[in-house]
Amino acid sequence: MNSYNIAYSIKIRGLYYHNCIKNLFINIVLLRMLEYKIVESSLSDLKKISLCHKQAFPKSFFSALGNKFLMKMFEWYITSEYNILIHIEENGTCLGYCGGMINDGNLKMGSVSAILQYTFKEAMVSIISKPWLIFHQVLINSYPIIIKNVKMKFGFNKKSLISFKDNTTEYPKFGLIVIGVDNKYQGKGIGTQLLKEIEIISKVKGLKSMYLSVSDNNHQAIHTYEKNGWVKIAGGSNLLMEKKLAPLNLGFTS
Ligand SMILES: CC(C)(COP(=O)(O)OP(=O)(O)OC[C@H]1O[C@@H](n2cnc3c(N)ncnc32)[C@H](O)[C@@H]1OP(=O)(O)O)[C@@H](O)C(=O)NCCC(=O)NCCS
Repeated sequence: MNSYNIAYSIKIRGLYYHNCIKNLFINIVLLRMLEYKIVESSLSDLKKISLCHKQAFPKSFFSALGNKFLMKMFEWYITSEYNILIHIEENGTCLGYCGGMINDGNLKMGSVSAILQYTFKEAMVSIISKPWLIFHQVLINSYPIIIKNVKMKFGFNKKSLISFKDNTTEYPKFGLIVIGVDNKYQGKGIGTQLLKEIEIISKVKGLKSMYLSVSDNNHQAIHTYEKNGWVKIAGGSNLLMEKKLAPLNLGFTS
C-alpha cells in the first residue's frame, strides 16, 4: 500500500468514526427530545405545574400561599384565549413552564390585577390560615394594588386599575408573566426551550413583540433572556425587556 493509499484509508476510517460519533450524538439528542415533551398546558396539568413553581421559586410569596392558590393562579392562564401557558414534562413531571398574556392595547387591567381578581378567594383563605404572611415583604410592598383590588372586588372601584397601554412598542404583543424551571434542572437549556416555544406561538398568533419585567438582581434570568435575543428597554430595580418578532416565514414566495 503506497503512502497515498495509506492516507486515503486513514481518511476513510476517520470519516467513518467521525460519522459513527456524530450519529451517536444525534441519537442521544433525539432520545432526550423524545423523553421531553413541550405541551400547551390544560386543567389536568395544574398540580404538576404548581409543584414545579415551588421548586423554581422556593422562597416566593406565591409559593408560600400554597398549592390551592397556585393551582388557581395557573388556572387563570388557561381560562382565556388571550392567555398562554406551556410546560415541559418528562415522565409526567413538570420540569419547567412559561405563561403570559396577549396584550392588544385594549386590556382593562394588568396581569397582577387580573390574577388577583381571579384568585381572590384562594388568596384570602390562604392568608387567613397563615396570618404571618400579612408581614411578608412582597405583600407589604403590594398594599396599594391589593387595596385597589379589594375595592374592585367589592364593586367600589370599577375603573381600570392601571393604565396598561404604553407607546414604546407596537401591538399586539405577548407579555411574559412567569417562567420557571425546577431548580434541579436549571442550567440545562430548559428555560431556553420554553422561550423558543413561546416565541413560535407568539409568531403564529401574529404578535409583533414579546416583553417582560425582571428584577435587576436576577442575573441568571437576565442572562437567559439576553442569550435568547431579548434586550433591555428600561432600567430600574425592575428591568423591562423586549424581543421584537419578525413575521413567521412559512417558505412561500409571492
Ligand atoms: C430563569 C430560568 C427560567 C432559566 O431557565 P434555565 O433552564 O436555567 O435556562 P437555560 O439553561 O436555558 O440558561 C441558563 C443560563 O444562565 C446561566 N446562569 C446560571 N446561573 C447564573 C448566574 N448566577 N448568573 C448569570 N448566569 C447564570 C447558565 O450558565 C445558562 O447560560 P449559558 O447557556 O450561557 O451557560 C430558571 O433559571 C429559573 O427558573 N429561575 C428561577 C425562577 C426565575 O427567576 N424566573 C424568572 C423570573 S423573571
